[in-house]
Amino acid sequence: MDPTDAAHVMQTPEEYADFLSGMSFDKRIEMINSFRCAELQGAEELRVLSETTDDPDLAKKFARHAADEEKHGAYFGEIMQRLGVEPFDPPDEPDHITIGGRLIVDTLNDIEEILPTRGETVGLDRVIPILTLFQAVESRALVSFEAHRRTFEAADPVIAERIGEIIADESHHAAYVRTLLDQWAAEGWADEVKAAQEATDAREGKAREWAAERLEAERLRDAGALPAS
Ligand SMILES: [Fe+2]
Ligand SMILES: [Fe+2]
Repeated sequence: MDPTDAAHVMQTPEEYADFLSGMSFDKRIEMINSFRCAELQGAEELRVLSETTDDPDLAKKFARHAADEEKHGAYFGEIMQRLGVEPFDPPDEPDHITIGGRLIVDTLNDIEEILPTRGETVGLDRVIPILTLFQAVESRALVSFEAHRRTFEAADPVIAERIGEIIADESHHAAYVRTLLDQWAAEGWADEVKAAQEATDAREGKAREWAAERLEAERLRDAGALPAS
């Protein structure tokens, strides 16, 4: 597989689902658990944003968004239990399997670094970079969740349906955040929106390079050119 193609594979649900179906049960569980944790981390970040924004309408939107992510966290926990595994704390150094998983976890950690502190009151200059990163997380989550949903369609339709519900919410999140960013860009925040988008695109480019290198290394190892690490 050409490394460029390999990086691309991880961006389409069809091929990603194919990739997942060859994965061990334990790895699948690890991924679902990391989604669970990502949902809860995102929820907490949105709660902070809701409590610190100077705009009461935005506060309401972010609180609703946080509640959705909390619900998703609980859903992924229920899915694990249905598969016979109790939710657990993720490893400190997660072994990211896909570009999507890595981008979701790393980006949520980056959001934490620029998140306001409770007690602060912040304007759009602080909100825009955070929401732009969220937009990247949500669109990644959509690809990853759709891939997982497909692999459960035949094996466990109840799980597939649950993930489908999560996906519907994520699509809504991605859409309302996009609408807000576009609206702010049209209302005098164009430079901030553009700068935040460029920073996020650069991050995505790096994650893609990482994925291509990793997949190429795995290909070489599978072909016997490198010893297994
Ligand atoms: Fe979510
Ligand atoms: Fe979401």
